[in-house]
Amino acid sequence: MVRDGGILVVDVGTTKICALIGEERDGKLWVTGMGVSPALGLKRGGVVNIEEATQSIKNAVERAKTQAKVMPNLVFTSIAGSHIKIQSGMGVVALREKEVTPQDVEEVLNSAQLVDISQDKILLHVIPQEFVVDQTKGITQPVGMTGIRLEAHVLLITAQRSHVQNLLRCFENIGYEVDGVIFQGLASAEAVLTPEEKDLGVLLIDFGGGTSDLVVYKDGVLRFAGSVPVGGELLTGDLAVCLRTTKAEAERLKIEKGVCLRELVGEEEFIEVPGIGNRPSRSINKKILAEILEERVRELLVLIDAEIKNFPKTYLTSGVVLTGGSVLLPGLIYLCDQILDLPARIGYPERLSGLTEEIYHPRYSTAVGMLLYAYQNYAQSMQKRSKKEGWWRKLKQFLKI
Ligand SMILES: Nc1ncnc2c1ncn2[C@@H]1O[C@H](COP(=O)(O)OP(=O)(O)OP(=O)(O)O)[C@@H](O)[C@H]1O
Ligand SMILES: [Mg+2]
Repeated sequence: MVRDGGILVVDVGTTKICALIGEERDGKLWVTGMGVSPALGLKRGGVVNIEEATQSIKNAVERAKTQAKVMPNLVFTSIAGSHIKIQSGMGVVALREKEVTPQDVEEVLNSAQLVDISQDKILLHVIPQEFVVDQTKGITQPVGMTGIRLEAHVLLITAQRSHVQNLLRCFENIGYEVDGVIFQGLASAEAVLTPEEKDLGVLLIDFGGGTSDLVVYKDGVLRFAGSVPVGGELLTGDLAVCLRTTKAEAERLKIEKGVCLRELVGEEEFIEVPGIGNRPSRSINKKILAEILEERVRELLVLIDAEIKNFPKTYLTSGVVLTGGSVLLPGLIYLCDQILDLPARIGYPERLSGLTEEIYHPRYSTAVGMLLYAYQNYAQSMQKRSKKEGWWRKLKQFLKI
C-alpha cells in the first residue's frame, strides 16, 4: 500500500542524482527511500540537456518512491555552480507594540529582500545576519525585545534564473511541482557541520564532480556562500589526457589508486594504464598519477583561498570540513593545511535515522542536508499540503515561473 506524506528531496549533482524520502516518526526524521542514478544532461551543476536530465531525475525518484512506498507531499531540489552569488540587504520597520513580535520579524525580513536583484537572477535564500533594535546591535533573536525600531541585515543567496527554470522544467516533465530550490553548499552544511563549528567559524568545501561549493559559518550564522567550477570530473579529464587513456579508465584509476600528494607514493610503485582502442597498456610510475592529481587539487585550493580572502584565518577557528565524493582522495587534508593554512576533517552525513548505512558517504551530504533543511523549515506542512505557505511558492507565483 502506498502511504501519503513525507518529503522528497532530489540532489541534482553533476555526476549523480540522489533522491531521498524522509518521513517523520516519533518526532524524528527517518530516511525511508533512496534512489541514485547517474546524472546525464548536466554539466558543472547546470542542466544542459533537459530530456536526459529529466530521465535521470525520474529514475532516481522512482527508485526512492518504490522503496519507501510513499507519495511525497513536499518536493525540494538543489542547485550549484558559479552563477550562485551573494549580496547583502537591509530592512527597517517601526514597532507597533513597543516590543518585537514574530510578525515584526517577518515584516522586516520581507523588507530586507526588496533590494535590487537583476532580472536574470532569482532569490534562493534570505539569511539573517543580525538584528538591530533601536541602538542595540548584534541581536540574533529579537522577539520580545523592547524598542521602537527594528532593523535586519541579511545575506541574499541568488541563482541564475534560467538555470533554475531549466531545473524546474525537468520536474514539471515528470509531474512534480517543486516547493523549494536549495543551494547545495547550504544543504551539505546542515548534514556535516556541528553547532560548535558553526559557532567558532568554519569553512565547508563540498568537493563534488562538477563544482566545489563553499560556505562559511561564524557565530552560528552563514556568512558566505560561493562555488568554484572545479570538481572530480576535471581531475578525471586531466588524467585521461595526460595518461592517454579513456575517461572511464581514468576514473577507475583515480578511485582505485588515486592520491593527491606525491610524497604518499613509494619510488617503486607502478600501475597499468590501458591504452585507447586496442593500443597496448603501459606501466607507469604511480608518482605520475599523484603529480597530475596534486597539481589540479593545489589549483583548486588556491582558487578557494582567493574566494575566502576576506575572512582572516583566525575567523575560521574550527578550520575546514571537506565533503562531497572527491574528498576521499588521500592527501587532501594535508594540502588543505598547507595551502589554506587551516586544519581539515572529512564530513560524513549524520543526524538522520532509517537508511543510515546507505547514506553514510560524503557524496550524499547534500541530499541528507536537504532533508534536514526542509524538515526544519517545513515540518508543519508535511501532512497538509494545502496549508503550505512557503516563501518559494509565493515567490514562484510572483515571478510566474
Ligand atoms: N574514492 C574516491 N576518490 C576520489 N574521487 C572520488 C572517489 N569516489 C568518488 N569520487 C569522485 O567524486 C565525484 C562525485 O562526487 P559527488 O557525488 O559529490 O558529485 P556530484 O554531487 O554528482 O556533483 P556536484 O555536486 O559537483 O554537482 C566524481 O568526480 C568521482 O570521481
Ligand atoms: Mg554534489
